[in-house]
Amino acid sequence: MTREVAQEQREQSSGSTTFFHVIDPRVFKRELLDELCDLADCVRMLSKCSTGARLLQDLASNRRAMLYFTQPSTRTFLSFNNACHILGIRTSEIRDRSTSSEVKGESFEDAIRTFSSYVDVIIMRSQEPGRATQAARMMDVIKRPVPIINAGSGSDQHPTQALLDIYTLNRSFSQRGGIDGKVIGMMGDLRRGRTARSLCYLMKNYFNVRLVFIAPNIFSMRDDVKAHLKEQGTSFVETKCLSEVIQELDALYVTRMQSEWDQQDESNDVDLNQYTVDKNQLKMMKSDAIIMHPLPRGPEIDPVVDIDPRAMYWRQERNGMWMRVAVLLKIFQLEEALYELKSTLVS
Ligand code: NCD
Repeated sequence: MTREVAQEQREQSSGSTTFFHVIDPRVFKRELLDELCDLADCVRMLSKCSTGARLLQDLASNRRAMLYFTQPSTRTFLSFNNACHILGIRTSEIRDRSTSSEVKGESFEDAIRTFSSYVDVIIMRSQEPGRATQAARMMDVIKRPVPIINAGSGSDQHPTQALLDIYTLNRSFSQRGGIDGKVIGMMGDLRRGRTARSLCYLMKNYFNVRLVFIAPNIFSMRDDVKAHLKEQGTSFVETKCLSEVIQELDALYVTRMQSEWDQQDESNDVDLNQYTVDKNQLKMMKSDAIIMHPLPRGPEIDPVVDIDPRAMYWRQERNGMWMRVAVLLKIFQLEEALYELKSTLVS
């Protein structure tokens, strides 16, 4: 076990404010979430002026990142790529196994080992769950201190999406006491949507949050997440009917049918009208509620909703880039350097 991994494991069990790999959202505690949100705010602010943007690029210009995305991605890929560039980190990418030596029979482990010969961080998305964990173990075995960031693992987890969702919720509720005490609805394909699953895992960090799962029976939230919520004392209810609960929601987190996982076109059996936000739902929602979506969207959010001030998903998308800069800053322990940079610029 490398020193870094051992340290990480000690810190994870004690609720630390540092981390090395980013694999499972459950390790993120409130203090760390608040710090990441502050860092993201600081980077966002500094990027607004050209001097700030230039100085940010010096922070990690000696670092290199590998973007290994073998499952389709637009936002997560682009936001990580741009987050790296904001900090001056140079990037390499593989987005298709057919362009890597894996087609010649190279094992996954050998591919990861090879990346780690060239870069300081590996950001990866895979079709199969557990790949990022496997890569992190691999780094441990070969004693190579290269952090692995899980940018989406099958239908299982998407920890950095959960972080940017927390950032979006925090910003949206900053004048209303933050996330504590809010009623958060999650709607759509909760069974196979990794974003809602990961976000659930962070909810234990907030007081008196109530979750409302809105999904057809076949795509209801899985028992593993529900067991975790029960264990952590996060309250949740389940319903098939949005109109029964819509009036009480402070946030509605909409997700699409994850039809790529269908065995027999089962997504087509769902009456999507029941799980869609359009003009009619807007009328029923609280005037200060927010609508989120990890995107890409299908028909579950009518584009007419985009102009409503409660539609938060386009801002949420951009928040992803700031939050991912914050994650990289923490990984490379550059948070002090960032605050120093801020104080030089502000004074
Ligand atoms: C999500 C994903 O890939 O899980 N997209 C994203 O990362 N922003 C959501 C989805 O594909 O439905």
